[in-house]
Amino acid sequence: MSVTILIGAQWGDEGKGRFVDWLAADAQIVARYSGGDNAGHTVADGEHVYKLHLIPSGVLRKGVVSVMGNGMVINPISLLREIDELTALGVIITPDNLLISNRAHMITPAHIARDKASEKSRGADAIGTTLRGIGPAYLDKTGRSGIRIGQMLDVETFADAMRASTERGNIELRGLHADPLDPDADLQAYVDAAYRLRPFIKDTSLYLYQQVQAGAKVICEGAQGALLDIDHGSYPFVTSSSPTVGGALTGLGIGPRHVERVMGVAKAFSTRVGGGPMPTEQKNEIGDRLRGTGTNYWDEYGTTTGRPRRCGWLDLVMLRYSAAINGFTDLAITKLDILSGFEELKVCVAYEYEGERFTYPPDTTERQERVTPIYETLPGWQENISSARTLDDLPPQARAYLQKIEQDVGLPILAVSVGPEREQLVTLA
Ligand code: IMP
Repeated sequence: MSVTILIGAQWGDEGKGRFVDWLAADAQIVARYSGGDNAGHTVADGEHVYKLHLIPSGVLRKGVVSVMGNGMVINPISLLREIDELTALGVIITPDNLLISNRAHMITPAHIARDKASEKSRGADAIGTTLRGIGPAYLDKTGRSGIRIGQMLDVETFADAMRASTERGNIELRGLHADPLDPDADLQAYVDAAYRLRPFIKDTSLYLYQQVQAGAKVICEGAQGALLDIDHGSYPFVTSSSPTVGGALTGLGIGPRHVERVMGVAKAFSTRVGGGPMPTEQKNEIGDRLRGTGTNYWDEYGTTTGRPRRCGWLDLVMLRYSAAINGFTDLAITKLDILSGFEELKVCVAYEYEGERFTYPPDTTERQERVTPIYETLPGWQENISSARTLDDLPPQARAYLQKIEQDVGLPILAVSVGPEREQLVTLA
C-alpha cells in the first residue's frame, strides 16, 4: 500500500501545500484530484515563495511526477500562465514531470461569465465564489455537455466544442440579463493553448495504476477543504466538487485498497472565505489578530482572490465531523505560531441549539447558522515558537493545546507547522 491522501479538514486554506511538499520528499508522484484555479497553495523554500493554483505542489521537488487528475476542472490559460511563472522562478516543468488527465474538464470563458452572472443574480444570497467558473464547469460535466481536456488533442473538433460551449452559455447569460459572449473572441488563445498543452495530456488513471502496482509512493493532494464538499459541506455555501476522501479516489481513479493513510490538515484556528455558517467566527479584535494585517503572504487573505478571510477559534465540532466523513488516520496542524501571545485560547467543544447539545454539526445549514458555540478555555503561551522542531521545544501550554485536539478528535498529530518556511516544522511521528 503506497497511497497517502491529504485532505483539508476545514474550509480550505489550511496550508496543505507545505505538508504535500513535506510528504513529497520521499514520494514519486503527487496527484491532485479536485477543484481548479479556485485553489491557492503557497510554498516557501527560503529562496522563493511559490504560489500554486492548479499544478500540484510536488512540482517543486526534483524527481517527483505531478499529476492533474480527472476530477479537476482546468482553465488552460491559467495553467499556462502558472507554468510560465514557475519556469521563470527556475522550476522545471516538462511532459515528463507534469501529466494532465485527458478526462479532466475544461473551464471556458463561458463558465467564468456564467459564474459571475449567477453570483450577481443571487444578490445578498451570493455564495461568494472565487468567480473562476468552477461551478458552471462542474455543472456542464455532470450535465454531460462539458469539454474534456483530451479533446484538445483533436484541435478541429475542439474549436467546435468551444464555440458550442459559448453558445450554450449565452442562453444562460441572456436569462440572467448578462451580456452574451462572442464565440470567436477567445478561441485562438484556447487553440494555441491546446497546441502547447497536448504533450502533457495522458490517461493518468492508468498511469497511476501502473505506478502503484510497481510500488511508487503517491501523495494525493486535496484542494479546498472537507467542509466545502458539495455533499458534506454547508450546502449551498460549498464548492462544486468533492474535496473529501471519496473525491480523491474518483478524481484520480485509484482503488481504496491501495490507500495507506488519510491525513487531515487543520489550521490551529478557523478561517473561511465566502458565505455560509462559521460558528466560531470572531468579528472583533481576536479575528483581526488571527487574520494579520495582510503585509505577509501567510496572513489570512485569499491566495487566489485576495479577499480577507473570516477568522475565529478552533472548532472541534467541525473537525470531529471532518474526521468522521473522511476516515482520517492522523492529523497535521498548521500555523500554531500564530496563537503565540494570547493570554488564553478558546476551542469550541460542542454547540448548543434550542436547548440541545451537539457534538457534531446539526443537519441543516440553517441550523448551523444559529448554533451557539460552547467553548473550553485553555491557557495561552507568550513564547515565540517559530524555531521549535520537536515537541519538547514547545511551551507546555502549546503541548496541552495539541493534546486537547488529539484527545478530542481521537487521532494522533503527526506534524505541526510553526512558521511559513519549509523547515519550520515540529514532527511528532
Ligand atoms: P467556488 O469553488 O469558486 O465555486 O467557490 C465556492 C465556495 O468555496 C466559496 O465560498 C469560496 O470562497 C470557497 N472556496 C473555493 N476554493 C477555495 C479555496 O481554495 N480556499 C478557501 N475557500 C475556497
